[in-house]
Amino acid sequence: MSIPASAVIPLLGQPSFVTLQSHVLSEERRQPGHSGNLSWIISALAIAAKTIAARLKNAGIEDVLGEIGTQNVQGERQQKLDVIANHLLIQLLGTREGVAVIGSEENDELLLVETEANGGQRYAVLFDPLDGSANLDVGGSVGTIFSIFDAPKGTEQVLQTGRRQVAAGYVLYSSSTIFVLTTGLGVHLFVLDTAVGAFIRVQQHLRMPASGTIYSVNEANAASFPPGYQTYLAQCRDAGFSSRYAGAMVADVHRVLIKGGVFMYPPTAKAPQGKLRLMYEANPMAMLIEQAGGMASTGRQPILDLVPDELHQRVPVVLGSTGNVQALLDLLKSA
Ligand code: AHG
Ligand code: MN
Ligand code: MN
Repeated sequence: MSIPASAVIPLLGQPSFVTLQSHVLSEERRQPGHSGNLSWIISALAIAAKTIAARLKNAGIEDVLGEIGTQNVQGERQQKLDVIANHLLIQLLGTREGVAVIGSEENDELLLVETEANGGQRYAVLFDPLDGSANLDVGGSVGTIFSIFDAPKGTEQVLQTGRRQVAAGYVLYSSSTIFVLTTGLGVHLFVLDTAVGAFIRVQQHLRMPASGTIYSVNEANAASFPPGYQTYLAQCRDAGFSSRYAGAMVADVHRVLIKGGVFMYPPTAKAPQGKLRLMYEANPMAMLIEQAGGMASTGRQPILDLVPDELHQRVPVVLGSTGNVQALLDLLKSA
């Protein structure tokens, strides 16, 4: 018996009941030969995100703020929450079928995982467990960024171009907790309903504006940017652009994705290769931005075409609306 259309009651104030889990399952069913392992991995990421969000909300009450007294492989001082978020992700992902390799900003080497083989696809999951962690002490926005590759043979398949990512995304911990995901079929947004404990889809197939009037860069470094960047910033100022910079890539890129404009971390005197890491910061953001109709470049080539040398390598990043990024690239070429 079919239900007549007139009997369907519109849901007031509730745009959708599609959860992240059901969204990923239905996307996965559209991929030939799927094993279900990808949705299983994304559900581990969602649980980690909910747990990290909860710890962050109580950060000033529980003793989780401040430095832990250790440094990561990149010589950065670790915050307690960097380590907590990293452990959580490793624990959750390390026990999921289909995870073969884990790579983290906070671990020197790749971790090989020996989960039960269920005959399904095997993946490498790379992540920045807590992005912008210097913002924690002041209650600012932070995030988690992840990148997923096919890795049936283990570690040897991790150092691939970002073009080969099968999924990428981030979680923004801010006034809302927002999960942004692509599996190569567009960019989709989910907001954590804290009362229900589920990520609810709020936007599908997000397309970013073709150009914008906001630039996002640490302008204090501008004197040591290559000349093309300096010219572009001067042009933006002349054109009446606004400047916005949270100091957390996730927060800054999220703004660009929604409002348009450009985010950049150019080479500087202090960081001649730029500061951001290719494998778990630049690549996943580049996939999201391209999937949303924008552009992501190192200043010389698309980020997604860069062949990596090592897990923690750094790369200059320019990403955002096509109009803005192209204008900057033209100046870099002619400088
Ligand atoms: P992380 O906290 O994971 O080390 O990342 C910090 C990064 C990134 O989030 C942000 O865009 C950038 O550092 C800010 O750097 P500056 O303070 O040099 O502007
Ligand atoms: Mn980061
Ligand atoms: Mn980090």
